[in-house]
Order: sequence, then C-alpha cells, then structure tokens
Amino acid sequence: MPALVHPLRCCLRTLLFATFACVGLPAHAASEQAGTDTVEIRSPDSRTRFVLSTDEGKLRYSVHRDDVTLIEPSALGFVFRETADFGAGFRIVASEVSANDSTWEQPWGERRLVRDHHRGLQVQLQRSEAPHHRLDIEVRVFNDGLGFRYRVPEQEGLAELHLLDELTEFRLPKAETLDAWWIPGRGWNRYEYLYRSTRLPEIDRAHTPMTLRTASGVHLAIHEAALVDYAAMVLDQQRDGVLKADLTPWHDGVRVRTRAGFVTPWRTVHIADSATGLINSDLILNLNAPNALGDVSWVEPGKYVGIWWGMHLGVETWGSGPKHGATTANAKRYIDFAADSGFGGVLVEGWNLGWDGDWFNNGEVFDFSTAYPDFDIEAVSAYARERGVRLVGHHETSGHVSNYARQRDAAFDLYERLGVRQVKTGYVADGGGIKRIDEHGVLRREWHDGQFMVNEYLRTTIDASKRRISINTHEPIKDTGLRRTYPNWITREGARGQEYNAWGTPPNPPEHVALLPFTRMLSGPMDYTPGVFNLAYEGLDAVNRVQHTLAKELSLYVVLYSPIQMVADLPEHYAAHPQAFQFLRDVPTDWEDSRALAGEVGDYIAIARQQRGSHDWYLGALTDEQPRTLSLPLDFLEADERYCAHLYLDGEGADWRSNPYAMRIEKRWVRAEESLEIVMGASGGAAVRFEAGGSDCGE
Ligand code: NOJ
Ligand code: CA
Repeated sequence: MPALVHPLRCCLRTLLFATFACVGLPAHAASEQAGTDTVEIRSPDSRTRFVLSTDEGKLRYSVHRDDVTLIEPSALGFVFRETADFGAGFRIVASEVSANDSTWEQPWGERRLVRDHHRGLQVQLQRSEAPHHRLDIEVRVFNDGLGFRYRVPEQEGLAELHLLDELTEFRLPKAETLDAWWIPGRGWNRYEYLYRSTRLPEIDRAHTPMTLRTASGVHLAIHEAALVDYAAMVLDQQRDGVLKADLTPWHDGVRVRTRAGFVTPWRTVHIADSATGLINSDLILNLNAPNALGDVSWVEPGKYVGIWWGMHLGVETWGSGPKHGATTANAKRYIDFAADSGFGGVLVEGWNLGWDGDWFNNGEVFDFSTAYPDFDIEAVSAYARERGVRLVGHHETSGHVSNYARQRDAAFDLYERLGVRQVKTGYVADGGGIKRIDEHGVLRREWHDGQFMVNEYLRTTIDASKRRISINTHEPIKDTGLRRTYPNWITREGARGQEYNAWGTPPNPPEHVALLPFTRMLSGPMDYTPGVFNLAYEGLDAVNRVQHTLAKELSLYVVLYSPIQMVADLPEHYAAHPQAFQFLRDVPTDWEDSRALAGEVGDYIAIARQQRGSHDWYLGALTDEQPRTLSLPLDFLEADERYCAHLYLDGEGADWRSNPYAMRIEKRWVRAEESLEIVMGASGGAAVRFEAGGSDCGE
C-alpha cells in the first residue's frame, strides 16, 4: 500500500496512539520527544497532501499539491468564553485514516450520480496540561479539493459554550501574485455585490466562496460545507495573504452559542488545474450528510413564470392600487401563458396584505394568509388546477422573522391546501438588520448569515418539507450544499440576479454571468431568473437594461444551474420572439450529467448538460464584453448517435450595446467526433439543443 498516511504509514484503518505506535518509524515520524507531532493524508491521486501538526503545542495545518505549498502552516482552534484557548497546548493522542470510493444518487441536480472518492483522517487531540480538554479534527481529501472540520466532544468540565472566535486561517503564499475574485463580507447588501477581480492583498473582508488563481494556474476556492447551527465563515485578511475565519456574530458579539458535543461546518478548499475544474467538482455536496427527508418525489424541478418582472420595471406594483399586479385576472392570464407554454409554475408576488407603504421597512405588518380584495386566491388556485399548473407561493418577510415565524404554520398550511409545491421566501433587509423579538420581548437585530438566521432558514425549510413544499430563498444565507440533506431547499438567490438590470446602479455588467459560475455557483444552484427578452425596456441607451445579446440570455438556462428556472419576462415580450422562445420551452432544468467544457473566470464559459431521463444534450456558452470564438469538441455526445443540433447563435454583427437581437437560429446534424464553432459578439452567447436520433432536422 503506498503511503496514504505519511509518516504514520502503519495506521491505515487502525486507531493509532501516536506516541506509542510510531516508535521505530523514521525520525520525521510523530514523536513527542522531538517536540513535533505531525500526521498527514493524501488525496486518492496522491497529488494533494494535507498536513496537521502540533509543533510546540500550536495547532496548524498546511496543504501541498505536487510538492508546491498552496496553504502554509495556518492556525486552527477556538476561543471560548468559558475556558482556556483551544488553539495551543494540544497534542495528537490518536489518529485514524480511512478511504472511500462510493457513488450516491441525487433526486435532482447537475448530475444524477455523484462519486465520493476521498481519503479521510480523524485526529484526536488533547491539551497536555490542565484543563485536559479534548478536540477532534476530521479531514477528507479528494482529488478536487478537501475539507476539514472540528468536533468538540462532550467531556467533563465543558457544557454550555460561547464561541468568541474561530482561529482557522488560510495562509496563502506569494499573495501579491494571486488573482482573486470576491465580494465584500459583512456589508449592507449581503451577497448582492458585483464581483471584484483583484490581487489577493486588495481584499479586506470577503464572503465565501472566494476564488483564487496562483501564478502557475492552480485554481482554488475557499468555502464551507454543511453550515448548520453555526455562524457563516467570512474571510478577514489580517495581513497580506493571511485570511482568517471571521464568524458572523450575534447582536451581542458572541459568534456561536453551543454546547460541548458540537461539530463545525467543513472548511473547504476546491483545488483544480483549470477554471473549469472548479465547476466540475462535487466537493461541497460530498461533504454534506445524505438526504434526511426520505421520499422526496414531491420536489419538482421545472420552469415557472410570474407576476414579478412588471413590478421590478415599475409598470405594476406589489401594493394595492391601480397598478396592482396580483389581481385575479392577471394571475389567470399568467396561468394561461404557463399552461400554453408547458411551464409548471406561476409565481404571484404582492397578493397578501402588507405591501402598502414602505414594505422594505414594514416587515411587522405582513399578513401571510390574507389576500388583497382584488385577488381571489381560491379561484386562482382552482383555475391553475384546471389548467394543469401550480401556483408558486411567496413569503416576503422584509427581514422581520418573528412576524413570519408566528404565522408560518398557518401560511404553509394554506399553501398546502391550495396545491402549492414551491414557496419563494424573501428577507429584504440590510445586512445586520434582520429583526427578531427575543424571549424577553426585546427587539434584536441580527445578520442574515449569523447563527440565529442559519437556524431560521433551515427551520423554515424543514417546516415546509412537512407540507411537501420546496423553498426558494431570496436574500438567503449562502448555500453550503444542504440541498443534499434537505432536497426541498431547491434553490436560492444569494448574488446579484436579473432584478438589478431593472433598477440596479449599475445594472449587471457583461462579465457578471461569466463570474457567477466560478464563484457564487460553486456553492449551489441560483435563482437568477433569466430569460428577459425585451433587453432594453427603456431603449438601448438607457442605463438600466440587460447588457447581453438575446442568445446570451438563452444560454443562462444551461450555464446558471438551478432545478427551477424562471421564465422571467412579460408574456407579451416573448410573443415578439417566438423562435427564440422555443428554446425556453425545450430546455429542461434537471440533468443526468453536466460538464464545464471551457472557460476562464470572468471571461467566458461553455457548459454541456445531458437532460435527465433522455439522450438529449444542451449547451450554453457566453462571453463577457469581449467578442470570442470557441471551437468546442462534441465528444460529450454518444459516439454512435446522430443529433439534430438546434442552434441559437449570435447573428452577424451581434453586440449587446447596439445590436443585441441579431440571432441565427438553425438546425443541422452533428456527431460526437465533430467540433462546433461558436462565434460570440460582445457580451454574446449561444444556446444549443442536441436532439438525439430523429429523422427530421429541417433539411
Ligand atoms: C427581492 C427578491 O430578490 C425579488 O425577487 C422580489 O421580487 C422582491 N424581493 C420582493 O419580494
Ligand atoms: Ca434580492
């Protein structure tokens, strides 16, 4: 057996007491006498090495790839209010290694079958001097990255704990040579910032996933997996290249309220030789626990339309009055549009009392069960049933979570009775401005990504699951892969979406959707709400418009993964482009397999996905403001199959500024051994359906 654990080679699958069992190993082995104590584990392909050491009592880890150091010795540990520092004075008392190569199935996702191939290391540590506290660290190293987490076991002398700081660091060598793509952490706009492309030292405090590229082209992304009953990890750059975990605090400054016996989320690092390698990774899902909900066949991927974009454009209102969007008649019109187009859901925002006045700041007045008089929810649901579609529910809390929590059971019961299977929730409030009334009746303000809200979002999702309802969270906590454990947490926002094109200052620039796949979307699906066909509602020269070509807007359905995708524009705008609209009718939202084919962070991307339960493939490609031509081998297609490629390409002279609608729509036969040349204009793109077999390809 090659050296899985080095230097503790003898230890595979055995519990090892380092000070005894390593007697007789080479000098670099763990040895208390020498004052060092080190264990390490390699990825299955041996390229990545994770080293844990307690040199001079200081807990440290480092990460190496092909003998290049990616993360230099970096601190581990905690500070608790109740006891001595948990970062120093520890020694390794036992370690155990393991290996895993298994495959599990997703109920829905980018791919049906996910391979979990890793090597694991479990380390037990104990403080040498009193108090003799115990701490466990668990590590899993995959070919595409790694995760590690802490467990503070139940033990004598520790009960209730107030975690004041987590000491985890990521020390990145040669910081000034590292490219970084990031959004600021702990800001008023939560996760809805434009991504910044800078050298690492320019970061102050950043959210995760944060993406990095070394001078030699290794791509890294730092994030976390399975964030449950803990605070989100924001990264604080303490000096150049030293990123420290900065857990989002409660209103009183405590980071996490817990008890001995707790386990932290996984601290994760994606490691890839290329930008696309980051995307073709299942690291985050693999580090989450399996489905805890049992039968989830009621979780339904699909497309939805909605009374939504009109409000963002300002031609309709959420609140009552002459422009009220959520009227019975308008809802029926959208139901007809969905049914006629083959889309399963109709979102209605602004149907319930509470939207009048300053709804951003009036969270306490929302009533989640009472409709405005011009919206007959019973009649609308009955009509939806008749037409074979479902209402998609909406709960905007404006961040007043106590008002929501009080009404949530009744609100979900109502939706369940009406046949609703998905609810979009919203937490519009500034960062740090979530309102809750505590057990003493005192108003407290919390962050969207602090422990209180981490628990609140999950509780809502679990409550919904009891009514067979899936949740699409807007203004969410970031995704950390919990969809594996709770598959009804179907998608979320958590970045700047389409809405910014209606009113954002500035709107999303051309590179935005070329950044998302390599940053935000490493965490999981996003409800971007693509498909706006009237790209410039107020004219091409208006500031607020979609800065894409029409073909690029189509490509988003493949590039930006979400199991539910909105067809976001007004029905009349689709009527103007019936041929392009055909792609939105055809494109599925649930996949057998997915492959990022080409791309560079913030520049361009091409992704191919196979429709679940079908031999058809789809391809989405897009570019930033640079026109670009890609030659893409079609070797993802089956070798002996002939496919009719339905091509939706930028037309001659397509350019987002002046000529965004120029499109070439054509069909032709293709095979796996061919390459497809895709010519994209400035902020252009391409969308392709590869229809397997068939006899007619329009010739
Ligand atoms: C913000 C959400 O992102 C958007 O989709 C929604 O329409 C508004 N909040 C109102 O709830
Ligand atoms: Ca939003």
